[in-house]
Amino acid sequence: MKMLENRIIAEGRVLGEDILKVDSFLNHQIDPVLMQAIGREIARLFDHDRIDKIVTVETSGIAPAVFAAAELGVPVVFAKKKAAITMTDENYVADVYSFTKKETNHIIIDKKFLNAAERILLVDDFLANGQAVNGLLEITDAAGANVVGAAVVIEKAFQPGHEILEQRGIRLESLAKISDFKDGQVVFAK
Ligand code: G4P
Ligand code: NA
Ligand code: NA
Repeated sequence: MKMLENRIIAEGRVLGEDILKVDSFLNHQIDPVLMQAIGREIARLFDHDRIDKIVTVETSGIAPAVFAAAELGVPVVFAKKKAAITMTDENYVADVYSFTKKETNHIIIDKKFLNAAERILLVDDFLANGQAVNGLLEITDAAGANVVGAAVVIEKAFQPGHEILEQRGIRLESLAKISDFKDGQVVFAK
C-alpha cells in the first residue's frame, strides 16, 4: 500500500537492529485518514471471504481492526492483556511472550464473544515474532472458530512470525512488507 509505505519512509525511525518506530500515525498518535484507508484495503482484500468477526489484541491492533470492521460490517473483539490470569469458565486465555519486553503476558477473551465455526479475520499492527498471532490462534482454536485470514499493517518479513501462519495454511496480507533494515533505512519487499 503506497500511502502507507510513504508514511513509513517519511515518519518511521529504525531503532537498533529490528524495531521500527511509527508512533506518529500508528502506535501512539493515530492518523484516522490513513487508518480508514488501511481499513478499506483490508476489507477489499477479504471482501469475498464471508468474515463474521475481526479479532485483534489491545492496544495498537484496535484502530486498524475497527476501520476494517466498519467497512466489512462486522464486530471487532480485542483480546485484553493481563499480567497473570488462569483459565476460567468464562474466559479463553493464552500465553504471549514479548521478545521486545522480555516478559510473558496473557491475553484473554471472554468466551461469549467467540463462537464455534465463526469465520475470523485476525488483524494487528505489526507482525514480528508472531507471539500475538500464536496466542490468538490458541484462543480461536479453543473456541472452535475458523481463522480464514490475517491482515497486518506492517510485516517485518525478516522475523519469523509469518511462518506460524504459513505452517497453518492461513492467508496473510501485509499492507507494508519490510524485508530488511539497511543502514537505518527501511527496505520494502517486492
Ligand atoms: P508479535 O507482535 O509478532 O507478537 O511480535 P513481538 O512479540 O516481537 O512484539 C511484541 C510487541 O512489540 C507487540 O506490541 C508488537 O506489535 C510490537 N512490535 C514488534 N515489532 C515492532 C516494531 O518494529 N515496531 C513497533 N513499534 N512495535 C513492534 P504490544 O506489546 O502488543 O503493544 P501494543 O499493541 O500495546 O502497542
Ligand atoms: Na500489536
Ligand atoms: Na505494538
